[in-house]
Amino acid sequence: MLSIQRSLFFRWTLVVVWHFVLLMTETSGLKPEDKHLNPSTVPHDARLAEGNSLCSGRLEMKHQGEWRALNTKEREAAVKFMYARVACRQMGCGSVVSIAHRPNSSGPKPAWEVNFTCRGTEQTLKECSSATTKRRVQRKDFSGYSLEVICSESVRLLGESDTCMGSVEVKLDNGWASVCEDGFDSEAQKVVCRELGCGPPGSFRGTFRKGEGTVLSKQLQCRGNESRLVDCASSIHSNCTPVSGILCSYLHELRLVEGENHCKGTLVGKEDGEWRPISDPWAVTELKHFVDVCQKVGCADAISYSQIYLPQSQPVWSLSTSCRSYSGSSFCEAWSEEFSTVAINMTCSESVRLAKLHSIHRCSGKVEVKSGQSWVPVCDSFFSPQTAIVTCRDLQCGFPLTYHRLDNSGHFQNAELAWNPVFMCEGKEEHLMDCPSTNINTTEQLRQCGNTHLTCTERPPQPYITVHVQEEEVVLDDFPQVPESHRFAISCSLSSPYNILSIRLTHLTKPLTEQIQSAVDGRAIFMFPAAEDAHKGIYQCDYNYDFSSDIFSRPKIFTLTIKENNYARLVNWNSSCAGRLEVEHQKEWRPVSHQHSWGLKEAAVLCRQLKCGSAVSTRKEDKSTELTWRFYSDCNGSEHALMDCGAVKQWLSSSTVEVVCSGTLLRPEITVFSSSVLYDDQQQGVQLFKGHSFIVNCSVEPQYPGGHFSLIFTGLNQTHSRTHPAVNHSAFFTYAAADQAHQGNYSCVYHNFVFNGNFSSESQSLSLRVDVEFLNVMLDDGVLREDDSETCAGKLLVRPKEAWRLLSAESTVWDLKHASIVCRQLGCGSAISTSEIDLPVKETVARFFSDCDGSESALLDCGAVKEWFSSSAVEVVCTGETLTSPRS
Ligand SMILES: *[C@@H]1O[C@H](CO)[C@@H](O)[C@H](O)[C@H]1NC(C)=O
Ligand SMILES: *[C@@H]1O[C@H](CO)[C@@H](O)[C@H](O)[C@H]1NC(C)=O
Ligand SMILES: *[C@@H]1O[C@H](CO)[C@@H](O)[C@H](O)[C@H]1NC(C)=O
Ligand SMILES: *[C@@H]1O[C@H](CO)[C@@H](O)[C@H](O)[C@H]1NC(C)=O
Ligand SMILES: *[C@@H]1O[C@H](CO)[C@@H](O)[C@H](O)[C@H]1NC(C)=O
Ligand SMILES: *[C@@H]1O[C@H](CO)[C@@H](O)[C@H](O)[C@H]1NC(C)=O
Ligand SMILES: *[C@@H]1O[C@H](CO)[C@@H](O)[C@H](O)[C@H]1NC(C)=O
Ligand SMILES: *[C@@H]1O[C@H](CO)[C@@H](O)[C@H](O)[C@H]1NC(C)=O
Ligand SMILES: *[C@@H]1O[C@H](CO)[C@@H](O)[C@H](O)[C@H]1NC(C)=O
Repeated sequence: MLSIQRSLFFRWTLVVVWHFVLLMTETSGLKPEDKHLNPSTVPHDARLAEGNSLCSGRLEMKHQGEWRALNTKEREAAVKFMYARVACRQMGCGSVVSIAHRPNSSGPKPAWEVNFTCRGTEQTLKECSSATTKRRVQRKDFSGYSLEVICSESVRLLGESDTCMGSVEVKLDNGWASVCEDGFDSEAQKVVCRELGCGPPGSFRGTFRKGEGTVLSKQLQCRGNESRLVDCASSIHSNCTPVSGILCSYLHELRLVEGENHCKGTLVGKEDGEWRPISDPWAVTELKHFVDVCQKVGCADAISYSQIYLPQSQPVWSLSTSCRSYSGSSFCEAWSEEFSTVAINMTCSESVRLAKLHSIHRCSGKVEVKSGQSWVPVCDSFFSPQTAIVTCRDLQCGFPLTYHRLDNSGHFQNAELAWNPVFMCEGKEEHLMDCPSTNINTTEQLRQCGNTHLTCTERPPQPYITVHVQEEEVVLDDFPQVPESHRFAISCSLSSPYNILSIRLTHLTKPLTEQIQSAVDGRAIFMFPAAEDAHKGIYQCDYNYDFSSDIFSRPKIFTLTIKENNYARLVNWNSSCAGRLEVEHQKEWRPVSHQHSWGLKEAAVLCRQLKCGSAVSTRKEDKSTELTWRFYSDCNGSEHALMDCGAVKQWLSSSTVEVVCSGTLLRPEITVFSSSVLYDDQQQGVQLFKGHSFIVNCSVEPQYPGGHFSLIFTGLNQTHSRTHPAVNHSAFFTYAAADQAHQGNYSCVYHNFVFNGNFSSESQSLSLRVDVEFLNVMLDDGVLREDDSETCAGKLLVRPKEAWRLLSAESTVWDLKHASIVCRQLGCGSAISTSEIDLPVKETVARFFSDCDGSESALLDCGAVKEWFSSSAVEVVCTGETLTSPRS
């Protein structure tokens, strides 16, 4: 009742028209043509083209001999509706079912633009009047819009301004007849309202004008499922009381169109006979506002909502501002006309819903399934975990979290209904209705039923994590710290009524590393034999169910830190890898007592833990009695940390433990010296110029006296080693002239005899390259040779750094002895002569300072240069020919 009042209020203007119509029809009565118009007589100047019948299609008019679509400049739906009413009447059809004013609908030719308005009571479009001009057709209209009209064929409502109320007439072969009150039940009303596109019948049956003047009447017998009134069984009567008026629902009609089925697609609504997309300029994004829509379009729960864009701006029904706060039981009633490109895309479930009690969470509620037009609850005593899976999936709600009997949801209300479905889902079905089902058979079973309250969750919940270190469980919130070298385990678990298929542990490093294990009783344990720095960082654990292996749960994320492990140390012997063992326990450092179980296996674990290599020896050391830690072992020697295979307790003892590991000696260093180094860096090693002498220096931090160094060389085709005793913890290995054979890797090995044993320790390897292409002396005879060959006679140039410089003749030490070093270095034989030449101008030259004896293989090995200005330089002539290549 409320909705009718509201609608009537909104439509007070129509009510005025209604009275006006009543007045008109009361006085004039029906015209005979109205009743007996023959539908097969197509009017000569108007038609509905390209529709399914004569009663639907594009409204066209003939003008100047041409049929074209008709377009009015009028955009208001209520006004356009009047053209449609007249057109339906002129075509001999019933009432207006719907109109559409769509872009790109005017057909192959541009439409006629008309400028006349209809009141709705005219018999033909021609009678509609133009207020300002006699010209009914103005011009061609290129907008592409036209008016499409659907009229009912076998029923009409008479004499009112709105299609959805009035007195009923039904079509006969040659006109219209009234309908007998007798037999016009609610089923017949349903059929009428449906055929007129007016939604469900309203509760109101008012006193509309009777079909006065009609000669014949029809008595109907409808089942209610007929789509047209003529499909109802009927008989003709000449004398019965005609039905008074009926009212179909005034509420807006809604539909979802252009989707796979009636529960998906673009939301359109009908007002004034016109279906238009519903626009939502306020972006009502909350789905709860649309729950009602799903039920109005004959579906169940709202699953999703989104805004979409129409291909072009077009007439829409726009929701008014008051709709924003809408929370009532019917979809927003206040619509206005607008042009827009925004529309609403909705998806509803078809046959199952989660009815809300208090929660507004879309994916939680009382499980109900559709039974005809109503909804029935589902009995909880037969509701299986698999059925819960399918229900959540059907509603696109993810995964079942919980389901239980809802105590405060009232009685199970399906006791009297015939259909009490029990679903027997396997869990793999897409929709609940795909599951086989049976019925509750006995009243005993029914008595035990309660309502089922189901909560689904988008993704399965996070698993539970524990980290285990040294038999202890580390609390996750405290950022688990794992001592270096120690074994640890990460346990990932969840208790769930469903089968957890696999559990995944991902270390969020670059690149990601992940481990997957099959779950056993919802749990997986990931073991790590020895913690190292690479294990630190962020981890996540998630899992999947066996019924949807592609979707993983929400991950549990945690951070693991690796802390230094320094509870054991070797002291007193100048080495961290040899000495007396001390252990820190309960914040106290104490020696470890030598008992039965301490042996090489335990020492091996200790040496590994201290990164000291392998165990060389371990023995008992006698001392005065003191408080020690006694070590209880279960080591097999392959463990990475003492406390992974042992435990300590306090003990009074006079013997302690000494351990010597193979890594006792410190690591030596290796360096290279040369007068002429091209470069020297960590990555590329050292590069020397050919011919220059070099020295390799092996040294070690002072730790123990004595010892010796071996220099191990690994070249392209040979390996050799040289050995020198350590002097001041160093040894030098000298090479007179670098050449290609010296290219390769060098490393120093330090050997010493300590603690009754021979120990050694190797340095990093150093790579050495000898450059034969770039020399730092050359002779220039001023001839530019195309073959890039070089000469054995000419002005002498040296390159102490980047730039080449002429060697200054002011170098008084310069003589043939020096020239011979140059010739040797260039591979030009021996020196014939060297002389002074004049330069045209003063320029930057290199003055040479010597410490050479003439036998050296490279000039700058035994000399140094400084830059100065001069106008004279040195020339050298060697025995050698001009060489095509000076390269070795
Ligand atoms: C209009 O109709 C023509 C022909 O039917 C079609 O090619 C064109 O894409 C349509 N335009 C729009 C905007 O729908
Ligand atoms: C159509 O008629 C309206 C009034 O009914 C008038 O305002 C308008 O100018 C007319 N248009 C044309 C193109 O004649
Ligand atoms: C209407 O329902 C009856 C049974 O109640 C059925 O026999 C008939 O085929 C249905 N008609 C239509 C059009 O669905
Ligand atoms: C409407 O929404 C559904 C579900 O989100 C989606 O699959 C479909 O593609 C959407 N349709 C349009 C036209 O955006
Ligand atoms: C009801 O009876 C049918 C036929 O005997 C049986 O298959 C079905 O399992 C019964 N339903 C229940 C819920 O027990
Ligand atoms: C430890 O080093 C010091 C100094 O280098 C030396 O005097 C001492 O003898 C060393 N101790 C042992 C046990 O070698
Ligand atoms: C030592 O024990 C560990 C388990 O603590 C085992 O994995 C390993 O195989 C054992 N090694 C030997 C050599 O027995
Ligand atoms: C040899 O190398 C070591 C380590 O780099 C250094 O301490 C020492 O001084 C070097 N010796 C000489 C003679 O340069
Ligand atoms: C490596 O050996 C080959 C032949 O075995 C020899 O020709 C070449 O000179 C050698 N290279 C060096 C750098 O010694």
